[in-house]
Amino acid sequence: MADAPTTPDRSPETTTFPRGFRWGAATAAFQIEGSTSEGGRGESIWDVFTRTPGLVIDGSNAELAADSYRRYRDDVALLSGLGADDYRFSISWPRVQPGGTGPANEAGLAYYDRLVDELLAVGIAPVPTLYHWDLPQELEAAGGWLNRDTAYRLADYAGLVVDRLGDRVQRWITLNEPAMTTLQGYALGSQAPGHTLMMGALPTAHHQLLAHGLAVAAIRERGDAEVGITNNHTLMVPASDAPADQFAAGAFDLIYNRIFADPVLRGAYPDLSGFGLEAMPGLEPGDLELIGAPIDFYGINFYNPTRVAEPAEGSELAAAGLPFEPVEFENVPTTGFGWPIMPETFTELLVSFARDYGDRLPPIVITENGASFPDEVVGGAVTGAVHDERRIGYLDAHIAAVRAAIEQGADVQGYYLWSLTDNFEWAEGYTQRFGLVHVDFETGERTPKDSYAWYRDRIASARG
Ligand code: FCB
Repeated sequence: MADAPTTPDRSPETTTFPRGFRWGAATAAFQIEGSTSEGGRGESIWDVFTRTPGLVIDGSNAELAADSYRRYRDDVALLSGLGADDYRFSISWPRVQPGGTGPANEAGLAYYDRLVDELLAVGIAPVPTLYHWDLPQELEAAGGWLNRDTAYRLADYAGLVVDRLGDRVQRWITLNEPAMTTLQGYALGSQAPGHTLMMGALPTAHHQLLAHGLAVAAIRERGDAEVGITNNHTLMVPASDAPADQFAAGAFDLIYNRIFADPVLRGAYPDLSGFGLEAMPGLEPGDLELIGAPIDFYGINFYNPTRVAEPAEGSELAAAGLPFEPVEFENVPTTGFGWPIMPETFTELLVSFARDYGDRLPPIVITENGASFPDEVVGGAVTGAVHDERRIGYLDAHIAAVRAAIEQGADVQGYYLWSLTDNFEWAEGYTQRFGLVHVDFETGERTPKDSYAWYRDRIASARG
């Protein structure tokens, strides 16, 4: 593996950020909480997925995860030590509504109540995501996101949460990365619920976006909070100048980025005729008005660009009639996950959003950005240290890329680093560590890494 870029010296003008820029860290309930059987929590699609042999790379589950259900006070203290403005966490739907319908489970709501109060007590704004992939299993049994009704169920659940926390939460995120649920969860089967429907997965995109629109309405009905969605975006880089590769990059851009951004930001789906579709499957009259209703910020998760080629003959994607295939970049440093490290593409992506969506684009918040590396504690727990220079290199370069995008006209108003602690990385189990804080997955013990102190100092210098 090649080395990550080193930290260049920069002048104060380029290290400080505009006044009011918000710094934070992001996590997700299923990845950190553990205690999956506590407090009347119901089962989610991820409990079933992790139980199914062969689906999670190390055969692990999230019963301990980062043990945050029990150690949330430690997490808040760590956030406070960073000087964070905001904490993006997610609320577990099956804790609040064990089967995805009906009245709220008091113990579930009470947990988030305590977390919100703990944050506010140290001056950190809670920024909850209502849905970060942990669909109640009972709803999956009724069709999951293929079933339009799931969108209405999510809006009901959102109402229960906002009724309880809305007096203290100012900023809500409806959904996390609907593209991944559609592509990995329903098209390719690499994430829960593990379906392999290829293009048959498209209705799940529409139903999730409808859920977003209905949740925005449910939140607005209950007060004047700020609302946004988190989409993950990647800059598509054609593998060559050949027209077939250029076309492939455009087609993948449509499926991965634009199907999820256009209806929210423009109130319309892009033209899908290249995929033999007259309209988005599942679309009904009135849906686009809900989905395209104004939001207060647009959350972007960014990790890496994607190189795209025409599919090789006989490949799985070609067999499914898809005109694109992601391929590896050549001679580019990579993270522990093997993801290419190309921070300049982050600037390019942010600037392209500002250019392409113009006035329709509200302020952007980077709701996730970070990198996994195989970190090790040296010197033992408690007194131990983790020298994660490559993570620092990644973060420094990507925060600089955000600064450059602002310089070039993108209105970015916040940056939430993924992630506060090491955690359960979905189908990768415990093999990918993204945290600023190392977690011992046997005991839950936390050891701040060098990147933790670095981010604390970086936030301070950004404030000038
Ligand atoms: C994103 C997810 C998040 C985490 C990071 C590494 O796609 O939203 O939960 O797994 O990737």
